[in-house]
Amino acid sequence: MRKMLVTGGAGFIGSNFVLLTRRLHPEDKVFVLDKLTYAGNLENLKSLSDDKNCIFVKGDLNDFDLLDSLFEKEGIDTVVNFAAESHVDRSILGPKAFIETNVNGTFTLLEAARRNWKDFQNKKFLHVSTDEVYGSLGDTGFFTEETAYAPNSPYAASKASSDHLVRAYHHTYGLSVVTTNCSNNYGPYQFPEKLIPLMILNALKGKHLPVYGDGLNVRDWLFVEDHCKAIDIVLENGKLGETYNIGGNNEWKNIDIVNLICEILDEKIKSDKTLAEQYPFEGSRKKLIHFVKDRPGHDRRYAIDSGKVQRELGWRPEDKFETGIRKTIDWYINNRPWWERIISGQYMDYYEMQYKERLVK
Ligand code: NAD
Ligand code: DAU
Repeated sequence: MRKMLVTGGAGFIGSNFVLLTRRLHPEDKVFVLDKLTYAGNLENLKSLSDDKNCIFVKGDLNDFDLLDSLFEKEGIDTVVNFAAESHVDRSILGPKAFIETNVNGTFTLLEAARRNWKDFQNKKFLHVSTDEVYGSLGDTGFFTEETAYAPNSPYAASKASSDHLVRAYHHTYGLSVVTTNCSNNYGPYQFPEKLIPLMILNALKGKHLPVYGDGLNVRDWLFVEDHCKAIDIVLENGKLGETYNIGGNNEWKNIDIVNLICEILDEKIKSDKTLAEQYPFEGSRKKLIHFVKDRPGHDRRYAIDSGKVQRELGWRPEDKFETGIRKTIDWYINNRPWWERIISGQYMDYYEMQYKERLVK
């Protein structure tokens, strides 16, 4: 039975992971530590509200005393570190919070683990990171675990710094760490500032669909549950001190994804009278697409070689994009109160401001 601390467990991937690990390992005790920033949402964990072995703690990754007391009193032996500022566009507007949480926060968490774990027997610290640390690819090639770090945005640089700290704590102090670097996730509970949920909601509401630059930037997309399953496997069997790349082998140009979302929504809504009344629209939603000013420093292409985790730990992505994207669209259609609360709330200012800026080319 593990005593697991999941940081950022009320965010998009963190909450999907908490739901999965409770299903797979009900014998564990899980402490979810989350600051509940704009991206954290306890609604995501609503189905666990009666689960006595899943305890929510509101707190900041930078609060050493809080972390220290959790390790000491609860005997934490496993850490999964999701907590982060995660949106590239926000890191361009205001990098400070990214340094505070992603760099200083990870450092504080590493210190709490190092000081409390007298030995590293049966202890594991899994740091969740991103493929963005590797920078940008040309038309060919893949990121492997040996690719040199070359972060291009403040977000990517802050994640790269945290990865280096995690690595250094292993080499210097022997801390029992493992790091995963994953490609773009999509699925339920993703905050509607990221490409896929933003496009789904804007298309439902008949708003403009802002595609950056020429729309030909490429991302590798992975269904969030597949990422969470990979983390579960790496947590159980990953070798200490190693890093594992995780990806969907599923490259898409942004414009193709936006077109696909429009096609699926057009077809789905046309054939369903209730939906057609709820989301009226004349013609194809593709006419909402607008090419807008590019993101500064926009990485052109990401592609992951996930051969190592496949060969060594037997993980495979299970969801095909064609089914995953339909499941995701259905989730947003069926969970309107979840996103209405977000877009009508205090974050609307940001959302609107971004939206207007995106229209200027
Ligand atoms: P998210 O923004 O949806 O969630 C982040 C969570 O961290 C939120 O619940 C937020 O409240 C919490 N948090 C932020 N600052 C905190 C602090 N100082 N103390 C405690 N909690 C804090 O992010 P996500 O998309 O779920 O990403 C989770 C992790 O996975 C991040 O580390 C991110 O870098 C990494 N990652 C994300 C993707 C992706 O496609 N979304 C891909 C690869 C890796
Ligand atoms: O690769 C992993 C990373 O994927 C994670 O580490 C990040 O946390 C996560 O946010 C994501 O970063 P991206 O910048 O790739 O995701 P985003 O959804 O913001 O953008 C995806 C692509 O779509 C990117 O090329 C920019 C483009 N885009 C995005 C938005 C929000 C648009 O064209 N229009 C938009 O409105």
